[in-house]
Amino acid sequence: MSTPAAQTPTSTKIKRLPLQDVGLNSLVALPYMLTWSEPLHTLLRLAEKEVEATPLPNWFSNSYTINGITATAYEFMYGKQSHLLAYAISELAHILESDSEGAFKSIYTPGAVSCVPADIPSPVDPSSLTALSLDSPEQFAMGLTNYEGLYDLGKSYLPAFVSSLTDPDDASKQFWPTLGNFSFMHNLLILEKVRDDPTVEDAKSRLGDAWSAAGIDALYKEGLLYALDMSILDCVALPEDNASNRYAHATFTLLRQDAQSKALEPIAIWISGKNVDGQPRIYTRKAASPGAWLYALQAVKASICVYGIWLRHAYLWHVVPGTMQTTLNATLDTGHPIYKMVAPESKYTVAFNELLLLFWGLIAPPTSITKTFQFLQLANEFAKDRGFFDDDPKVALERLGLQEHDFSQAAPWDQYATVRDLLELWNMTEQYVDVCVDVTYPDDSAVADDASLQSWIAVSSAVDEGNVRGLEPLDGKPALKRFLNSLLYRVIAHGGANLLSQSTLIHLFVPNYLMALQRRDIPEPEADLDTKQLLTYLPNTGTIGIMARFYFTFVLAKPYEPFVPREGAEADLFFPSGLNDPRNRALVAYRNALLQFVNARAILPNQIEHWPLNIEI
Ligand SMILES: [Fe+2]
Repeated sequence: MSTPAAQTPTSTKIKRLPLQDVGLNSLVALPYMLTWSEPLHTLLRLAEKEVEATPLPNWFSNSYTINGITATAYEFMYGKQSHLLAYAISELAHILESDSEGAFKSIYTPGAVSCVPADIPSPVDPSSLTALSLDSPEQFAMGLTNYEGLYDLGKSYLPAFVSSLTDPDDASKQFWPTLGNFSFMHNLLILEKVRDDPTVEDAKSRLGDAWSAAGIDALYKEGLLYALDMSILDCVALPEDNASNRYAHATFTLLRQDAQSKALEPIAIWISGKNVDGQPRIYTRKAASPGAWLYALQAVKASICVYGIWLRHAYLWHVVPGTMQTTLNATLDTGHPIYKMVAPESKYTVAFNELLLLFWGLIAPPTSITKTFQFLQLANEFAKDRGFFDDDPKVALERLGLQEHDFSQAAPWDQYATVRDLLELWNMTEQYVDVCVDVTYPDDSAVADDASLQSWIAVSSAVDEGNVRGLEPLDGKPALKRFLNSLLYRVIAHGGANLLSQSTLIHLFVPNYLMALQRRDIPEPEADLDTKQLLTYLPNTGTIGIMARFYFTFVLAKPYEPFVPREGAEADLFFPSGLNDPRNRALVAYRNALLQFVNARAILPNQIEHWPLNIEI
């Protein structure tokens, strides 16, 4: 059979940023729209979400005393913050009228400042209540809102949360369960079994003498050693302060698994010094001071959040689907059955991505990646040697050396529930895709002979078009199923950020998933760091407020279009002929499977209404 590239047109000239001109060759194409209506329409839609999710004073009415000042949580978190998106709308209108091409150029020009003017009101006013480090770990409870009784639902967790910032043993015990069980919105398939080269050699060279001093070699030989490798962050390290005071260091963590309970605990942490003096620090549970160990665990979490948000969520679930959706529109006509299947879930992504890149300072969550170009650099590094299918859950588990029996105690994957959740979404997507492909194509040759489909893959793969690596020729139904599953799974999995669940409560106590450290310096492993000093590294009052508002934008605002139609699972079917078409029946079953998934996890009623059909934000 001839290859798709040989039999189909590969040129559509999609409108995309000239990333390869600035050396970013690995990243998939970043399409943009820049029409008379975009990105303004998306900004207006986003402003509506913001209004729906804007925290109100009575949501945060609990009082705290910090730095000798007594005020409500709302006042500490938000002060007199103006409505930034309202400001942004007027600024964007001005930018589009005056120099829209220049604004876009600022996205991919190294060192360029954002098109958002420097005098935009800062989210955190340094002279006010919103720039204070907390006096005690208990005060992080201010992120838990009284809205719908969430504070009451979350308060039973508080003693354990506080303990994770004061007691090194508790912090070590909680570290993995917190990350492994409540992170499917961050797509944290990140734990790696240390099996053989190059991982083990890399670990040995990073740890140096600590490898033998901490008894790590024996764990490795018993198959009980795991790693979390966040060293990629070194590619955006900068030994200088930034205006937001938000930092994340590259980290590398080794964890020990208990053979009986299967619990994992961190035992050694490498923290890069590239943001500081170039010298890495190595912390082991045995040798580090209690305060330094607690700091190191928080530094690792910050690096994991940055990695999760920008690479595992934004790159894999926003950027790659946006590229594939653009090439879909360029190659399949609207009557094509696969277009009918994929297009309803392919709206809004590119427009949102475009807006995020343009207005990074306003829209991006409060991480250490403070400029658009840093994100592009980081994503480009991540995309090197990465194929389209490499992060599909079953492929990723194989690559990471993770096996179900190693993480299952009372139920499958109960020691790494994020895997369980992602696999469930993968499997329900697979059932839907199987039916659609089997009904649409009588045999493998019908897939291979579909010139539009072949063109979609060819254009997506072409270096000067989609630049998506690792796509395989669609030579039959199995290949098409695999491809569509990977694409549609990302859309449905992305919607998990909107689910108000136990995970939301865990995240609203922000040191559990801190997005950045607020100090760039790194305490030495033997440093005598007390709790008050540790808190100066952790999110301050205003950052807690920004993070809470960020989560609310997902879980409180309703989507433009819900995954399950408001009129019920049998409304708005994608294919003609109603329920006579098996593909529509499979769609209804897909929606009902998601409903079950949501009901098993939601902590407030009617949460299915919040799961979006598309990648919206
Ligand atoms: Fe998102």
